Amino acid sequence: MKSYDRFSGTVAIVTGGGMGIGATVARALAREGAAVAIVDLNGDAAQGVVKEVTESGGKATPVVANVGNVADVQRAVSIAVQEFGGIDYLVNNAGVVIYGEVPDFAEADWDTVVDTNLKGQFLMAKYVIPEMRRRTTGAIVNIASVQALISQREVAAYAASKGGIVSLTKTLALDHAKDRIRVNCVLPGSVRTPMLWHAAELAPGDPEDTIEQWGKIHPRGTVIEPEEIAAVVLFLLSTDASAVTGAAYVADAGLSAQAAF
Ligand SMILES: NC(=O)c1ccc[n+]([C@@H]2O[C@H](COP(=O)([O-])OP(=O)(O)OC[C@H]3O[C@@H](n4cnc5c(N)ncnc54)[C@H](O)[C@@H]3O)[C@@H](O)[C@H]2O)c1
Repeated sequence: MKSYDRFSGTVAIVTGGGMGIGATVARALAREGAAVAIVDLNGDAAQGVVKEVTESGGKATPVVANVGNVADVQRAVSIAVQEFGGIDYLVNNAGVVIYGEVPDFAEADWDTVVDTNLKGQFLMAKYVIPEMRRRTTGAIVNIASVQALISQREVAAYAASKGGIVSLTKTLALDHAKDRIRVNCVLPGSVRTPMLWHAAELAPGDPEDTIEQWGKIHPRGTVIEPEEIAAVVLFLLSTDASAVTGAAYVADAGLSAQAAF
């Protein structure tokens, strides 16, 4: 494994850090020296990642919170500040998908998807940016999806929320360049996580075979591993990306580059 130390002595918040991409990002940041607040609705999952990180000598704390709820977000930010002294990095990663065509899609399901995926990123930025200003610098990475650019059937709420993240990212980048805060987003293709597994379970047949088939849709023939997305996230947070802000960084293994012919 490559050994870097780009985040030594810094503090990061990772939302949805209990599983999948968020857990992988949290572990990677901790390995490179950041203290990580792992914010997740699922307390057991957050606690599990904290245990792994602390057992391997890193620093992390769990926060059980819903990113779509303002009181939860305020509490999450103040716990990170109290435990670790401030905030340098935010990874807005928590997300959910609910499938269905719009006429049959419950309003409550629209709210769940948009409140988690888009409003959650707004609320986290709202309360984290003042903390970054106190440190006179910071970096934010918002996790969108390649579905912000290209779509599939039955994902109206999810795709709309992900398109919104790209727009939110650009405005945040412009507004906070003066604060020396960079804001970028990442647009992954299909990534092997519990979310992808859950989607595969909804399809007919064996979920392993379904994921293999989805992999074949990507030009290289396989789905993306969470570590590959974490590498892009850490690059964008790091000073290696000092010239990058307001970017929608596509990490889809070529999925959106191809036409159907
Ligand atoms: N897996 C993919 O193929 C894929 C592709 C493109 C984009 N993404 C995006 O990447 C992000 C992470 O996806 P994943 O595949 O790792 O998902 P996952 O379902 O495997 O993990 C998501 C984590 O977020 C947490 N979470 C959900 N709602 C929350 C809320 N309201 N508040 C706090 N925590 C909450 C869950 O408990 C879970 O730990 C999401 O934004 C997702 O949309 C995933």
